[in-house]
Amino acid sequence: MATIEFENVSKRFGDSVAVDNLNLTVQDGELLVLLGPSGCGKSTVLRMVAGLDEPDEGLIKINQETVNDVEPRDRDVAMVFQSYALYPHLTVARNLEFPLRRRGVEQAERQKIVSDVAETLQLTPLLERKPAELSGGQRQRVALGRAIVRKPSVFLMDEPLSNLDAALRVETRAQIVALQRRLMTTTMYVTHDQVEAMTMGDRIAVMKAGVLQQLATPKVLYSLPANVFVAGFLGNPPMNLLPGTVGSSTEGSPVIRLTGGELPLPSAYVGLNLPEAVFAGVRPEALTVDPDGSLSAVTTIAEVLGSEVHVITALPDGSHLIVRQDADLPIPERNESIRIRADDPESILLFDALSGERVQAR
Ligand SMILES: Nc1ncnc2c1ncn2[C@@H]1O[C@H](COP(=O)(O)OP(=O)(O)O)[C@@H](O)[C@H]1O
Ligand SMILES: [Mg+2]
Repeated sequence: MATIEFENVSKRFGDSVAVDNLNLTVQDGELLVLLGPSGCGKSTVLRMVAGLDEPDEGLIKINQETVNDVEPRDRDVAMVFQSYALYPHLTVARNLEFPLRRRGVEQAERQKIVSDVAETLQLTPLLERKPAELSGGQRQRVALGRAIVRKPSVFLMDEPLSNLDAALRVETRAQIVALQRRLMTTTMYVTHDQVEAMTMGDRIAVMKAGVLQQLATPKVLYSLPANVFVAGFLGNPPMNLLPGTVGSSTEGSPVIRLTGGELPLPSAYVGLNLPEAVFAGVRPEALTVDPDGSLSAVTTIAEVLGSEVHVITALPDGSHLIVRQDADLPIPERNESIRIRADDPESILLFDALSGERVQAR
């Protein structure tokens, strides 16, 4: 069992900052997902925990002990990568027991651990096969197994499912979560896939260009994103961010003015000192095509995805507004002028158009 702490950790490669002043604590037993686009510094964060990269500044602590100067092999962490890196000439059983042999664990004990882990990962029937005789998903489970047999205090997983096809990814991610829950081993899991992050993480740390943007549970991240980057990164399709200003309607009630019309200002923002230019954040599933809606838009295209339809529309200034609706509702035609309503105007979020930060509501 272990905690992992980052205190003001920075890492540069030449002139470029890969990780910029990271402060973060992974709780004991937690599965924390690091999420962000390619190149934002996720792997560098993991590699610094493993001891494969050294921070330029700051402290990394595992179980409250500073490990900056501790050799990788003495850190008691196990890392699983996207590529499986199994020994091709060894059977599954021998691959699994490899870390144990190296540590000089006795044969009887080795066999017991390997058969337990094989059972857990549904590898028992495959123990005598070579990696070339396995599917991608099976190979990745062997790689996981090889990390587990060591009983490390920390698991580090760097996009371990990227090489698997979609169905296998879904299945394997559920297995990893179940396994982590059972072992309760503190885990940092890196992915650029927001669905993977949302379904797996106890908490998610969203990174952009080396900077931590927000650390929160999946639920909070989705409902209260800290800024426009997080809002636009999560959700499929992501949150609509509509440029507008705050003002009064002709009847004198507070509204958000957009190019396609007005939305009522949520009561939590009324009376606050608001920025002049804002983005109104509305999830696509919180919008409905409705002749009585307050926004007018033109349909660009409707994407039919089985149970749901994404109606992509353009507001008069050309900005996109996406409505996610059930497949059994009428689908607007291309170039059709439509009206759209916000189902729950109180759920609209405001972001400062200059800073991109979410405006704190009352
Ligand atoms: N060994 C290295 N040498 C030079 N630049 C590197 C090295 N490793 C990573 N970087 C750079 O650091 C940044 C973060 O990389 P990385 O941590 O691999 O991002 P991610 O895992 O989020 O895709 C990128 O701009 C990458 O090009
Ligand atoms: Mg990476």
